[in-house]
Amino acid sequence: LHVANRTAAKVPAFLAEAGPLAARATGHDGLAAMAAAMAAPRAIILMVDAGPAVDAAIDALLPHLAPGDILADCGNADFRDTRRRAAALGPRGIRFLGIGVSGGEEGARHGPAIMAGGDPSAWTALVPVMEAIAARFEGEPCAALLGPDGAGHFVKTVHNGIEYADMQLLAEAYGLMRHGQGRAPAAIAPVFARWNAGRLRSYLVEITAEVLSAADPATGLPVVDVILDSAGQKGTGRWTAVEALALGQSASTIEAAVGARSWSSEKAAREAGEAILGTRRTRVDLPEADLEGALLAGRIVAYAQGFRLLRAASDLHGWGTDLARVAETWRAGCIIRSALLADIAAAFRAGDLPEGQLILSPAFAADLRAGLPALRRTVAAAALAAHPVPALSAALAFADTMAQGRGTTDLIQAQRDFFGRHGFVRLDTGAAGQHGPWAG
Ligand code: 6PG
Repeated sequence: LHVANRTAAKVPAFLAEAGPLAARATGHDGLAAMAAAMAAPRAIILMVDAGPAVDAAIDALLPHLAPGDILADCGNADFRDTRRRAAALGPRGIRFLGIGVSGGEEGARHGPAIMAGGDPSAWTALVPVMEAIAARFEGEPCAALLGPDGAGHFVKTVHNGIEYADMQLLAEAYGLMRHGQGRAPAAIAPVFARWNAGRLRSYLVEITAEVLSAADPATGLPVVDVILDSAGQKGTGRWTAVEALALGQSASTIEAAVGARSWSSEKAAREAGEAILGTRRTRVDLPEADLEGALLAGRIVAYAQGFRLLRAASDLHGWGTDLARVAETWRAGCIIRSALLADIAAAFRAGDLPEGQLILSPAFAADLRAGLPALRRTVAAAALAAHPVPALSAALAFADTMAQGRGTTDLIQAQRDFFGRHGFVRLDTGAAGQHGPWAG
């Protein structure tokens, strides 16, 4: 095992923390020295910040690599960069893998979920290592090759998009209890803990309960009360929303979550708005069971939109991504691991998804039939009491849209034809390129 860092001085400290592994590892004071010391075919894993640092590391390594060597980028890369790198390295005989790794710090120590894309022979070579470090679900490693070039990083991006949506849904439910019912964080924590024992069981619900029960050592206040309500983002959630639109989709719960983070950063404007607009949040009377049902329905829609996006990207790029395998890979180790993922994997394995829509599969359609009334009551109550619930609202609008065989885009088509003679399809004859009886 060989190790190098851009800052050579960090290597001894890194090895000092490696415990028994350190005896098997050799530190080097640069990528070139490391590559020179390794026997071909080399297998090199890059763990650097996504973006230019990855290109810089590849450029530094390339003169020292030989055909047949393996390079794996395990950062949160933009899948378009991964495709570009795979295309550039392929002709030079370098086998490139773009690997999405999820699990945060806990995952890094106890096993992450691993989503790979790229050269199958390179993956086969790395499988023993990847499966050894991956999280396990009922003994099965959460690590898979999900397609060529950028497929793994695309799956990781969508994972993060779903992560954004799920976190936003949880924050909205928290907000309704906190600001709509005046309950203290420590009193809300047990609600999430209870939900975590049911169909909502998941890592994010579990940590939400823990976060809400924590007190700030300096002040004794609930930790959430000492945190500025302005959320950061490194970009993967936004990429998911952008890619969805580029694919002619709309992952609206994810877009809502990305947008909510952006709005949150306009703290000064929100404070000014509080005075100028004069809207006052009022009480929300909702039973906990409604919030639980709303969250479940919202989560199902977020997953469904994410998987729909994976299908669209896989079709466009010819990746052949196995969506059941994606769901299986997400069952443990990753941030969005939840009880639903085993059922999602089963739904894809059964292939029983009318029109490819997860929300129409028997298991999830049943969940939605049960949960949508609660989601509707929650969104309605929140709207009447002036509590913004962008992700819950987006989920409801999607579910309602998908439940109407006849919508309102007939009017959009008429308007387009009116001002631009864009033409429409007649329902009665099926004829395309038809025009309305307007002048011009
Ligand atoms: C994971 C996380 C991890 C990270 C993301 C999101 O799966 O382990 O998604 O990749 O937390 O980068 O970070 P932001 O919220 O800063 O975009």
